[in-house]
Amino acid sequence: MMTESGPTGSARAKLQTLPRTITCVADYEQLAAEFVDHPVFEYLQGGSGNEQSLQANLQVFNEFQLFNRVLVDAAKGSTVTSVLNQKLRHPILLAPVAYQKLVHPGGELETARAADALEAGMVTSTLSSCTLEDIAAQHQGMRWFQLYFQPQREHTLDLLRRAEASGYSAIMVTLDATVQASNRRAQRAGFAFPPDVTAVNLQGYGAPPAVALSPDQSVIFQGAMSEAPKWQDLEWLLDHTSLPVLIKGVLHPADAERLIQMGVRGLVASNHGGRALDGVPAPIRVLPLLRNALGQDVPILLDSGIRSGYDVFKALALGADAVMIGRPLLYGLAVAGALGVAHVLRLLRDELELCMALAGTPTVADIGPHCLFATTADGQRTLC
Ligand SMILES: Cc1cc2nc3c(=O)[nH]c(=O)nc-3n(C[C@H](O)[C@H](O)[C@H](O)COP(=O)(O)O)c2cc1C
Repeated sequence: MMTESGPTGSARAKLQTLPRTITCVADYEQLAAEFVDHPVFEYLQGGSGNEQSLQANLQVFNEFQLFNRVLVDAAKGSTVTSVLNQKLRHPILLAPVAYQKLVHPGGELETARAADALEAGMVTSTLSSCTLEDIAAQHQGMRWFQLYFQPQREHTLDLLRRAEASGYSAIMVTLDATVQASNRRAQRAGFAFPPDVTAVNLQGYGAPPAVALSPDQSVIFQGAMSEAPKWQDLEWLLDHTSLPVLIKGVLHPADAERLIQMGVRGLVASNHGGRALDGVPAPIRVLPLLRNALGQDVPILLDSGIRSGYDVFKALALGADAVMIGRPLLYGLAVAGALGVAHVLRLLRDELELCMALAGTPTVADIGPHCLFATTADGQRTLC
């Protein structure tokens, strides 16, 4: 198939205006393939292993259906909510996504402009391709910093202090990617990082000290895992910041309980968009278990597989306080920069509002398991 500028997969100039034919995130996904080089598209689309978790993330939402309700007065409805006492215009945050200059030369600065315009919370990745300070300057609204522990504590502490100084109001520590799982799609497509797309926040920290392995030692156990954070590292971190700390990448209720007991303020139920341990369940499946384990008061966010406002609604119904989107923001960014990201957010919010209105839940607090209908393992249909 040929596009305006050449064979499918060769990058096109970004759109300056949005055609009316773009109606949903799926349209952006399809278009994005034309706006970035093929290996880059494969890199962002791909999951780890056999992509079981990636597929599960997308399919699982279809197992839940919504109830419409009649004669409910929704004229004063609103998507306004709050997490950690921070007000949100709507419960849809931009997930931490590394190296956004891969899909747009403006990278995270474009995303931040969109977040500002749509009053969306934005989480800046440790591995952003624009500095965390520059991103903060573009976004007046709710901004959080996603922290990856660095091999040396002084560097982790430096990132923390820089985030605090730049006005980030929470730290989201990602813990499910301590070993980099291979992305076979990217590998097969020959993906490589261009030299001008780098983790600029880490410049100046130097290369981590090399771990010398003997031939009988494992690259995973004695290599990557020797530098991976442990429980005592998280304790150290909690002692070194007064900002609320959330942990991203939690699925097991026992981990969730221990984390909250030690002073973590919130969790993100996430499988890294199917890019970490392949074969783990879609987060939406374990969300009710997490909610049961933690009670109603602990903030739980969810990501991985959110592609519509309907998905957002289902996540809220099953116990999430808010959701984050990863790839959908990249699709918008790839197609039309800040305009595209803002449009993606707007489409999701509009769909969420539609769901809320027709499901008889004018406020976020009204949404709950009673709004859903699901199929159980033995094929029975039941209220959630
Ligand atoms: C290309 C790409 C880069 C990512 N980079 C990071 C990152 O730097 N830090 C992080 O915590 N999560 C990262 N994630 C995971 C997202 O934060 C999020 O968990 C995931 O994308 C949600 O799934 P979704 O893409 O289906 O929305 C990345 C995801 C993608 C697709």
